Amino acid sequence: MKGVILAGGTGARLKPFTRILNKHLLPVGPYPMVYWPIIRLRDAGIKDILIITNKNHLSPFIELLGQGEELNVKLDYKIQKKEGGGIADALMSAKSFIGQEKFVVLLGDNVFEDSITPYIKEFQKQDKGARVLLKEVEDPTRYGVPQLDTTNKKITSIIEKPSNPPSSYCVTGIYMYDQEVFQYIETILPSNRNELEITDVNNLYIKNNQLEYDILQGFWIDAGTHESLYKAIQFMNEKPIKEEKQ
Ligand code: DAU
Repeated sequence: MKGVILAGGTGARLKPFTRILNKHLLPVGPYPMVYWPIIRLRDAGIKDILIITNKNHLSPFIELLGQGEELNVKLDYKIQKKEGGGIADALMSAKSFIGQEKFVVLLGDNVFEDSITPYIKEFQKQDKGARVLLKEVEDPTRYGVPQLDTTNKKITSIIEKPSNPPSSYCVTGIYMYDQEVFQYIETILPSNRNELEITDVNNLYIKNNQLEYDILQGFWIDAGTHESLYKAIQFMNEKPIKEEKQ
């Protein structure tokens, strides 16, 4: 299985740092932020990894990570053509890298504790469709929020940044897809914030009864704001994630 890390976007909520630096290169504990999703994928046995970022941010990633020698992975890079065009827009750049396989996508600003190995194993049992990981959060209005049918372990819909959240969970930036995802992305339209939303893509999987979920237990944070970046740094300094034995 291959992995994709999305490391584009504008980093608007982390200005002024992000005027000169891509947010995924900011320090989180002992490493630049982007090291963590690479380590999470590698420890789940995924070593063939694509990093997607903006054209003007590509060279520092290459300088930092090269072809992945230091972290013992194989890295490729692609550019998101429309900077800030949305998560689904960025993901489209992975199409040729993925081919016909199922794959895992991590948002580069999601910092988390749990191993993804058990969830990938569950996803491997699915012959098609997608799988997302949820996490209970204090302020769901900042995220994509699922409406749950817990009896049947199904998500019935996902609302992006709702003012009245239908649950206390968020859909984290840990996604598993089959190759159908690229067809779905082609059918969606830009949202009010002028982005191609991954939530719209996930809702298409729901419509076809092909979205499964699991709930993350350990620490998880979207380090996209000053406050949450601080919490991520604190967590990683106090309790660095153990690297799994392979
Ligand atoms: O963190 C989980 C949340 O991430 C989900 O609950 C939401 O459903 C999802 O929309 C997303 O919300 P955010 O508004 O926090 O996304 P943000 O714009 O901060 O981007 C998240 C990551 O995706 C970030 O690491 C950069 C990457 N990205 C984002 C955009 C908009 C790209 O690579 N390209 C883009 O155009």
